[in-house]
Amino acid sequence: MDWVKIFSSANELKNKLATGKPQLLIIGNTRLCLVLFENKILALDDRCSHNGESLSKGTVNYLGEVICPWHGYRFKLATGREAAERSNDLKTYQVKEDESGVFLWI
Ligand code: FES
Repeated sequence: MDWVKIFSSANELKNKLATGKPQLLIIGNTRLCLVLFENKILALDDRCSHNGESLSKGTVNYLGEVICPWHGYRFKLATGREAAERSNDLKTYQVKEDESGVFLWI
């Protein structure tokens, strides 16, 4: 595990990520779903724990949940918990920001 730089600055992050729109990020063999929500960047596994759909193809609701486009399961961005406990929780990833960039712990 190590910090991996994903943006060179907070400005770059805000220019590349639309608020509330999931974005796929691939680092090595890991596929992540990145979301800018309420001025925070959140990262969780991209693979839906129900049947494997890519959550970065989904949408985000006002509760801070990403909604899988296939069967509509909802996962809390902050915790990875499935809203109705029908499926396993998703792994979430810590993000930090400093003057040198935005980093993901992976
Ligand atoms: S694959 Fe995501 S809800 Fe079924």
